[in-house]
Amino acid sequence: MSRSAHPAGPRHADVLTEGHYSAPPADLNSLDPKVWSSTVTRDKGGELTVGGLEVSRLAEEFGTPAYFLDEADFRSRCRAWADAFGRDADVFYAGKAFLSRAVVRWLHEERLNLDVCSGTELATALDAGMPAERIAFHGNNKSEAEIRRAVEAGVGRIVLDSFQEIVRVAHIAQELGKVQKAFIRVTVGVEAHTHEFIATAHEDQKFGIALAGGQAAEAVRRALKLDGLELTGIHSHIGSQIFDMAGFEVSARRVVQLLAEVRDEHGVQLPEIDLGGGLGIAYTSEDDPREPHEIAKALTEIVARECDAAGLRAPRISVEPGRAIVGPTAFTLYEVGTIKPLEGLRTYVSVDGGMSDNIRTALYDAEYSVSLVSRTSDAEPMLVRVVGKHCESGDIVVRDAFLPADLAPGDLIAVPATGAYCRSMASNYNHALRPPVVAVRDGSARVIVRRETEEDLLRLDVG
Ligand code: LLP
Repeated sequence: MSRSAHPAGPRHADVLTEGHYSAPPADLNSLDPKVWSSTVTRDKGGELTVGGLEVSRLAEEFGTPAYFLDEADFRSRCRAWADAFGRDADVFYAGKAFLSRAVVRWLHEERLNLDVCSGTELATALDAGMPAERIAFHGNNKSEAEIRRAVEAGVGRIVLDSFQEIVRVAHIAQELGKVQKAFIRVTVGVEAHTHEFIATAHEDQKFGIALAGGQAAEAVRRALKLDGLELTGIHSHIGSQIFDMAGFEVSARRVVQLLAEVRDEHGVQLPEIDLGGGLGIAYTSEDDPREPHEIAKALTEIVARECDAAGLRAPRISVEPGRAIVGPTAFTLYEVGTIKPLEGLRTYVSVDGGMSDNIRTALYDAEYSVSLVSRTSDAEPMLVRVVGKHCESGDIVVRDAFLPADLAPGDLIAVPATGAYCRSMASNYNHALRPPVVAVRDGSARVIVRRETEEDLLRLDVG
C-alpha cells in the first residue's frame, strides 16, 4: 500500500490526542525482550517463533485467536521468585491471573504455593494435586459453602476479610472440629499509583479491614478469642500493576506496626505477614518493572528494619505475585481481518478476537504493544488501532501502535504480555468462543485449555 494511502509516522502521531507513542519505533521488526517471553525470537525467514515453533504453524494447528504460553519462561519466573525470597519466605502465585490444571502442576513442581479466591479456583487447585496446606484462600465475600470446602480440604490459610467472616470461619471450623489457620486482611491506607479499579489499599473500597480507627486491631482482638481460629498473620495487598516500591514499603511498615501493637496488647507475636501481589510488568517498551530479587531485597530489608526498631522477631514473609509471573509468559495471536484507513486519523486494524479475549484495554485503559509476526516488513510504519470484532466502539485491543503500512488481511499479529487477566477475564460477549491456551515448550505445543465450541455454549442454553 502506498504511503499516501496510509500517511504514517510523525504525521499521524501529531493527531494523537491520548496516545503514548510520539514516534514510531526505529525498527518495527525487532522484538523487545522486555515484553516478549524468553524463548520468543524471529527465525531466518522473519517469522516469530516461541519454544522453537513458528507462529504460522501454531495458527494452522490451533487456530486464532489463541493464547500461547511459554512454559519454560513461566517456570523460570517461578524459580526467580522462589530464589529471590529464599527459604524464609513463601511465594504464593495468585491464581486469578490465570489458572489451569497444567499451571497448578508447574507451580507444584517449582515449589510455589497458590492463592485462590473462589471455590472453583480451589477445586481446580485441589484437582490438579496442589497440597491443601500450600493454598491460601481469599475473597471479600466467601460463601459458607466455600469456607466449608476450604476448611474441610485443610487449606493452609484463610485470609479473613471482614468482621462477619472472622466469626463465620471460626464457627465452621469449630463445627468441623478443626482449628483453621487464618490471616486478617488489612487496608493500610496507601494510595497505590495505578488504575482506580485495581488499587485496593485506600480506605474507600470493599477489601479488608482498615488499620485506621483501630478497626484492624479490633479484628485481631476478636479473632484471638475464637477457638476455631489460629491467627497466624496479617495480610495486605495494595493493588496491581504497580511500579513504585514506596507503596509496598509503607504497607510493610504499617503491617509491622500492627504486629507491635498486637504484641503490646496481647503479649503474642503473630509469626507471619503477607504483603500481597501487585508488581507491575512491561506491557510496552516504556515500562520498567522491578526484578523479583530487587523486590525481595526491598521488602525484607524494610520488614527487618521496622521489626528491629519495634523489638519484634522478623516475621515470615509471604508475597502473592500473579501478573509478574504469568503476564509476560504469553502472547495472543490474531489474524488480521478488515483494515480501514481513516485519512488524517489512524488506521483501524480489525482482528478475529477483541474485548472478549482481552477486556483490559476497555476496562483499565491498559496499554499493549503489537507486532506483525508472520513475516517481517520494510514498509513504512503506520499508526494503527487494533480493534476486535465486537459490537462496541470501545472494543479496542491496542489503542495506539505502529504496524507496517503493507499490513494485509490474513497477516498474523501478536500482542505480547497477555498471560495475566486476559483468559481469566475472557467473556462470551457476542457469543464469542473463548480462545484456547496453548503451552509451548522445547519444540512442542499442547493445548492446556481448549477452545470453546458452539456445543459448549449451546449446552448451557437449556431454554
Ligand atoms: N493477592 C491478592 C489478595 C489480590 O487481590 C491480587 C490481585 C493478587 C494477589 C495478585 O496481584 P498481581 O500480582 O497479579 O497484580 N484484573 C486486573 C487485576 C486485578 C487484580 C486483583 N487482585 C487487571 O487485569 O489488571
